[in-house]
Amino acid sequence: MPKINSDNCQAIILAAGKGTRMKSDLPKVLHKVAGKALVSYVIDACHEAGITKPMLVVGHGSAEVRAAIGDDVSYCEQFRQLGTGHAVMCALPFIKEKKGEVLVMCGDAPLIEGKTLIALRNYFRESGAVCTVLSAEMKDPTGYGRIFREGTGRVLGIIEEKDATASQKKITEINTGTYCFDLAALRSVIDDLDTNNAQGEYYLTQVLELLIAKGYQVNAYLCEDSNTALGVNDRIQQAAAEKILRKRVLKDIMLEGATIIDPKTTYIEKGVKIGADTVIRPNTHLRGNTVIGANCVIGPDCDILNSTIGDNSQVRYAVLDSIKTETGANIGPYTYMRPGTELAENVKIGGFCEVKNTKVGAGSKIPHLSYIGDAEVGSAVNIGCGCITCNYDGYKKYKTEIGNNAFVGCNVNMVAPVKIADDSYVAAGSTVTEDVPTEALAIARERQRNIEGWVRKNKEKRKK
Ligand code: UD1
Ligand code: MG
Repeated sequence: MPKINSDNCQAIILAAGKGTRMKSDLPKVLHKVAGKALVSYVIDACHEAGITKPMLVVGHGSAEVRAAIGDDVSYCEQFRQLGTGHAVMCALPFIKEKKGEVLVMCGDAPLIEGKTLIALRNYFRESGAVCTVLSAEMKDPTGYGRIFREGTGRVLGIIEEKDATASQKKITEINTGTYCFDLAALRSVIDDLDTNNAQGEYYLTQVLELLIAKGYQVNAYLCEDSNTALGVNDRIQQAAAEKILRKRVLKDIMLEGATIIDPKTTYIEKGVKIGADTVIRPNTHLRGNTVIGANCVIGPDCDILNSTIGDNSQVRYAVLDSIKTETGANIGPYTYMRPGTELAENVKIGGFCEVKNTKVGAGSKIPHLSYIGDAEVGSAVNIGCGCITCNYDGYKKYKTEIGNNAFVGCNVNMVAPVKIADDSYVAAGSTVTEDVPTEALAIARERQRNIEGWVRKNKEKRKK
């Protein structure tokens, strides 16, 4: 399907409302589903459809919305939230010079997709109407505006739930809140909206009646998938949207060639990329801009945020935040890796290890129970069980450098700043406070003393 040309089609996204029914301090459109703000999905749908810079009408929590969304959109302010019609009134002066069509969408309807916007606009053009509303058949239409048609099927308008009679409430075709308008026709009636309705607001939906009264043709385009319509007004609808979006993302990932063993316990945010033949095992969360390579096994029980994992890697029972690995990483079980950590090829970070802000060279191993932070570890290094970089003196953080082929024995403390040179050894149980030269063995522990016969003598002493 060819995309929409942004030059003759604008988009306005209504995002100024408070979202009273969410009972929250956060503006409604910033509430998240599947890891992203509600309104971000609507913006993405515009971009997918070819509309480069939609206009966001902001008001309640405007500064917060602007800060969260950034400049993928343009903004206009609705200082008082007097209704969806009023929001459009506020937006139109900002696109004064524009001609053609305008798509209007609600910022709280995250299931809208680019392909639906294109289909709506195409239907609008073919039908010759000045307004096409995107409608949907809902089993339970409660809360939505109902599409009111005459006997012949011609659309006469939209009736809000609060203004509907008992018999109108039985109508199951609803207004999704997405419309395509002819800009000139919309401009010709927008100032005629009134507030004579149950909520005392300027309803955008009244525009349809006003257009019909002027002799214009309006119609509705019924979308195939009624899920598209879901508007998030409360936490229950938020959970419903989450469920649908999660399924959609998993479906796309599976179609791209990754196996998801248990979709019910797999949570993957939109935008995460996974290579072919990778297997995602149960209880795995992949979030933010995470990229997983091909032929990996991820999970069970992983929480991976903003990280890049190379091909042929394995991650089990791990929490990874903003890390990067090359191919062949072997991480887990019970491993915590924090921002700034980068692993070269074939690195192993094993059980009960925490690694922070550390670069690890190719083939190196940190297999058991260690904390390695603010460090640079060379290639082919072996770090024994229970090693600690003492990187913090209570005021500042310091760096530990461990050279290529170094062997750090078990239970070693490395008091930073300190350098352990290439090809050196550190004896088990050492607390290293000074640099270790190349090929040296550092022993920094009390020398062992055996006191012969001590146990027997001690027993005799106690008998007395
Ligand atoms: C609206 C529609 C309803 C439709 C439903 C689809 C009207 C009058 N009703 O109802 O027919 O079935 O969406 O989800 O249009 N907003 C502003 N400024 C305002 C008021 C609202 O920007 O002054 C924004 C909100 O932030 C929200 C969107 O417009 O993103 C819709 O507002 P909301 O209050 O959620 O309307 P609904 O009751 O859901
Ligand atoms: Mg709504």
